[in-house]
Amino acid sequence: MTSTEALREEVRARYAEAAVAADTGGCGCTSDGGCCGNVACEGEDASFGETLYDAEQRGELPEAAVLASLGCGNPTAVADLHEGETVLDLGSGGGIDVILSAKRVGPTGVAYGLDMTEEMLALARRNADEAGVRNAVFLRGVIEEVPLPADSVDVVISNCVVNLSTDKQAVFNELARVLRPGGRIGISDIVAEDRLAPAERAERGSYVGCIAGALSTGEYETGLRAAGFEHVSVEFTHEVADGIHGAIVKARRPLGGPR
Ligand SMILES: C[S@@+](CC[C@H](N)C(=O)[O-])C[C@H]1O[C@@H](n2cnc3c(N)ncnc32)[C@H](O)[C@@H]1O
Repeated sequence: MTSTEALREEVRARYAEAAVAADTGGCGCTSDGGCCGNVACEGEDASFGETLYDAEQRGELPEAAVLASLGCGNPTAVADLHEGETVLDLGSGGGIDVILSAKRVGPTGVAYGLDMTEEMLALARRNADEAGVRNAVFLRGVIEEVPLPADSVDVVISNCVVNLSTDKQAVFNELARVLRPGGRIGISDIVAEDRLAPAERAERGSYVGCIAGALSTGEYETGLRAAGFEHVSVEFTHEVADGIHGAIVKARRPLGGPR
């Protein structure tokens, strides 16, 4: 196993543990390094998870979906979804943003959730069933190789997952492939200030805890532009550690021209 494969396996195992724990009302984030968003764990950081959703949204969701929320923002609040659209959520976890998106796009639209962790997919499918949502489809796979055809998605959302990827440029390239011309990205993620070198980011938190793998603002913008995106923006919303922030990332695939 290469070190990259080992890191991905560490991420998968940690989030499998979190899914099983969330399912039984416990906390799977307590072992060394935690995981991204520990609000289900008493006394943990409220910069992550369910508190980032308003009461109305939480009311639309099964309790298990709310409890399993491990995000660092609320991408459904920034993505401006419309009836009939096709949405893809990268790293959909317990399904919170897929369920909210499926409701927003309605029966003529579809919300895909993509995740590599079987335990999370099982939890998400149960949560979607409990929420009575019929237009949510959960796919097993990695965000570096999205199992959807080119030009098939209107909006890509994601909540605290890109920082966990071991090949972020592959993720950005995949987004450019699956989005239709004019398609857009509304991602919540953890992003570092440009002044922090990778080693300084790692001093502030673990990789599985969504800190050490964070890109800086400049790296995020450069990666998205290299994949062909325009109107790229990275906006900090709340600081989670010194120089490390929850952020909203937006971009658009150009309407015309080569990919
Ligand atoms: C921090 S949790 C966030 C879950 C969800 N977005 C939320 O807001 O609750 C990260 C999720 O991304 C998944 N994940 C991490 N890296 C991935 C990858 N490379 N490909 C697919 N899924 C991945 C994990 O299995 C986990 O469910």
